[in-house]
Amino acid sequence: MFDRSVLGPHQSEFLRQCWQKKPLLIRNAFPGGLDYVGGDELAGLAGQEGIESRLVIEHGPKSWETRHGPFEDDVWSTLPAKKWTILVQAVDRLLPDVSRLRDRFRFLPNWRVDDIMISYAVDQGGVGPHTDNYDVFLIQGQGRRRWEVGAEALKKPELEPELDMKILKLFEPVESFILEPGDMLYLPPGFAHNGVALGESITYSVGFRAPHQKELLLSYVQFCSQHEGDEIFYTDSGMPEQREPGLILPGELKRLRELMLAGLQDEQVFLKWIGGFLTEPRSFHEPLDQPISEKSLRAGLKKGRAVARAEGARFAFYPVGEKLHFAAEGECFVLDPGLTELVTLLCREQEYSAEDLLAHSEKLGFMELLCHLWNQSYVRWSDET
Ligand code: SIN
Ligand code: CO
Repeated sequence: MFDRSVLGPHQSEFLRQCWQKKPLLIRNAFPGGLDYVGGDELAGLAGQEGIESRLVIEHGPKSWETRHGPFEDDVWSTLPAKKWTILVQAVDRLLPDVSRLRDRFRFLPNWRVDDIMISYAVDQGGVGPHTDNYDVFLIQGQGRRRWEVGAEALKKPELEPELDMKILKLFEPVESFILEPGDMLYLPPGFAHNGVALGESITYSVGFRAPHQKELLLSYVQFCSQHEGDEIFYTDSGMPEQREPGLILPGELKRLRELMLAGLQDEQVFLKWIGGFLTEPRSFHEPLDQPISEKSLRAGLKKGRAVARAEGARFAFYPVGEKLHFAAEGECFVLDPGLTELVTLLCREQEYSAEDLLAHSEKLGFMELLCHLWNQSYVRWSDET
């Protein structure tokens, strides 16, 4: 549907001057706004099991309430006329049109995209002044919203105590914009912001993730502990003869630390792990009960049927020496480099023509890979939902 970057010719200027550095308002980035969902549909999604949603109600100054979904149908009629909002995460994994919005942000790597959240607010609704740890493009889908933005990224923002959500104790906005349908505001991580709906408002947040150092370490260590490799234990031959038994010697501390760092520095293990980590999904697509056979897949392609990537599925690749690593939804495959062109296509597009796929079908490992992606529900016929 879209093959144009949302920033058009300004993409490189944006990356140089704004990305991770400063906010940017882009008027009319999506002419006419976006109308893939309305408040009722969003409330419907927020009622479903397995979909992450929140309802935020502002009861008065510094008095906020957050409830987590799924919500019963009758909750909406109990809410006040003003000052509440529903937020539904990862709608790009649910609705094809929202998933395709990601194509407009192809100038940023797949693995950095977190999700597209959509919020519906009644008049004056919002989630209060806060910071986020990620880059975000806030697109005004429908209605209007006033955004106020702070001057710089806050390192350690002070929060209101005793609230179950993160509201800034002090918010000193330096800029204020009223977003009309189709306008878009980019915010780097840490910039304080507050969006207040002016009448009913729908906002799409295209959020990016940046792994935290601790998250990387935790996942890597877990991977290492399951990964088959040499069993390396601490050794201390040449131990000094006379010592205080309670004392841990500086040399011992050094050896222990070196042992750990050597584990972290094994590049081969890192390369096996990182692709899966970076494409890990927020939620899982259910694998098929009935696996597809190579024969029926090939037959479908020969009939000209196109294949689609599952909504929001995260694919990425990287070369490692003579091999190609391809990661999909947290799984990493080591492939023949002859599949580079195919894998590039799988990662870039959301729909693949039979012709494009058949052009690779005789290549080593192609059918096996496609069947696996299929059986895991990462891809399917594009004419089937
Ligand atoms: C919203 O859509 O109401 C909140 C988005 C945000 O501030 O992160
Ligand atoms: Co925010």
